[in-house]
Amino acid sequence: MSNDIILDFQNVTKKFPGVVALDDVSIQVRRGEIHGLCGENGAGKSTLMKILAGVYPYRSYEGKVIYEGQELKLEDRAIRQAIEDGIAIVYQELTLVPGMTVGENIFLGKEPVENGSINWNKLYSETREILNKYKLDVPPQAEVRTLGVGKMQMVEIAKALSENAKILILDEPTSALSKAEIDKLMEILETLKSHGVTCIYITHKLDEFFRITDSVTILRDGKAITTQPTADFNQESLVRNMVGREMKERFPKGNRQPGEVIFKVENLQAVDPNEPSRKVLSGVNFELKRGEILGIAGLMGSGRTELVTTIFGEYGKITEGQIILNGEKLRITSARDAMQAGISLVPEDRKGQGLVLIQSILRNISLAHLNQFSAFFRIDQDAELAAATQQGKNLSIKTSSLQAQVDSLSGGNQQKVVIAKWLLAKPKILIMDDPTRGIDVGAKYEIYKLMNELAEEGVSIIMISSDLEEVLGMSDRIVVMHAGHSNGTLNIAEATQEKIMALATGIA
Ligand SMILES: Nc1ncnc2c1ncn2[C@@H]1O[C@H](COP(=O)(O)OP(=O)(O)OP(=O)(O)O)[C@@H](O)[C@H]1O
Ligand SMILES: [Mg+2]
Repeated sequence: MSNDIILDFQNVTKKFPGVVALDDVSIQVRRGEIHGLCGENGAGKSTLMKILAGVYPYRSYEGKVIYEGQELKLEDRAIRQAIEDGIAIVYQELTLVPGMTVGENIFLGKEPVENGSINWNKLYSETREILNKYKLDVPPQAEVRTLGVGKMQMVEIAKALSENAKILILDEPTSALSKAEIDKLMEILETLKSHGVTCIYITHKLDEFFRITDSVTILRDGKAITTQPTADFNQESLVRNMVGREMKERFPKGNRQPGEVIFKVENLQAVDPNEPSRKVLSGVNFELKRGEILGIAGLMGSGRTELVTTIFGEYGKITEGQIILNGEKLRITSARDAMQAGISLVPEDRKGQGLVLIQSILRNISLAHLNQFSAFFRIDQDAELAAATQQGKNLSIKTSSLQAQVDSLSGGNQQKVVIAKWLLAKPKILIMDDPTRGIDVGAKYEIYKLMNELAEEGVSIIMISSDLEEVLGMSDRIVVMHAGHSNGTLNIAEATQEKIMALATGIA
């Protein structure tokens, strides 16, 4: 084997009960390249990477992985060994401990010790160095739980980089990052590349392959379909190879006829309930019509998530203004109140808030609306199964059985379960916080179709999205947030990316 191949997967097959996650996969990764890994939800991307990281020991799969000219033989729980071998991985799911500080997380398990106790000064000064090196604007002593998802993701990356990595694996690193943070990450990757570090890069944002990778491997249903230089692909060929068919349009055409205004937010102001001196919303105004899809755009940190979690009764303490549903002033102090009023929220952090990981897929989907299926205090299991099965089919959730536990699903398929759950709850108002994050192009299309159908049936949808094309492709009107307030509303006919950005950055 030539020396410029750092990593060579040879006929790797990995099975789970009822699923062949990897099917005779052979891939070569060249030293110093950024190698993209592309594929639908459940294609096997994360499984392949977990083999490298020692999550799955070498006896649990067939075939060989040659790393630096030698077979990688990681035993059970050899994650530490993988790190020492120079393999660093940033997992798709965040692995930070929320109750610990940034520094404690970065040095977890390798704290600097002096005379038998942890040298905290050293730990925090080294943390500061790492954060400075990657220009991350995060206080070393901040508890991780107080950071937004984007910041958490950056800390996760800094943590992986604090080792001397020869090969860095990033499993959907940008799903929760702002544009500025993505730019920063791309810069870091270029720098690492110039130092000879090899990188494997997984994403569902296809433009990122073209921006950063040298070559791309496409996985489909556990099989490696092709590896080619990125320059030999374009968006269409990438999608075609990935989903196995032609996909012409990204957004299905709906036939929505928004009706009268049913919901109003007037001059809403709110503070952080844990820190009442901190204003999180400072004057939000918008109206929502029956059967309308209202997009909410804005930069990361502009208050979009704070807005919807406040409406949902989960977060901000309202200090002024009001929320009106069907002409009546709403008083919502908990998610239960909101749901009783007919409002549902697909949360941004779906793993943390949306799922019971050790329950079955079926039970998770039907959790939010069990009353639909309970007659005389008994759950009508047939009806539950039928409804959940239909929804699972609609969203093409990839699983051997709906009775399987949610944590056996791939990341994107877990997301689909949360979405299925709230779509099935048939609320009057459905709020979706970044609904297609981490979801492949084919499944996105299915979610858009379901959103259209719900809106046509009269459900009003509020959709937060950082993807401007998605906002423009799906919304009837767009509210743009800037620094905690609604800076303007655009009708879809007049909306453009430039106008949205002007409002989002506060120029307009
Ligand atoms: N621990 C597990 N137990 C059972 N099945 C699993 C387990 N982990 C993964 N699978 C299955 O293996 C297949 C591949 O999953 P994997 O997580 O590798 O997909 P992925 O390509 O990373 O998808 P995504 O884009 O959604 O993250 C899926 O069908 C998944 O359900
Ligand atoms: Mg994955």
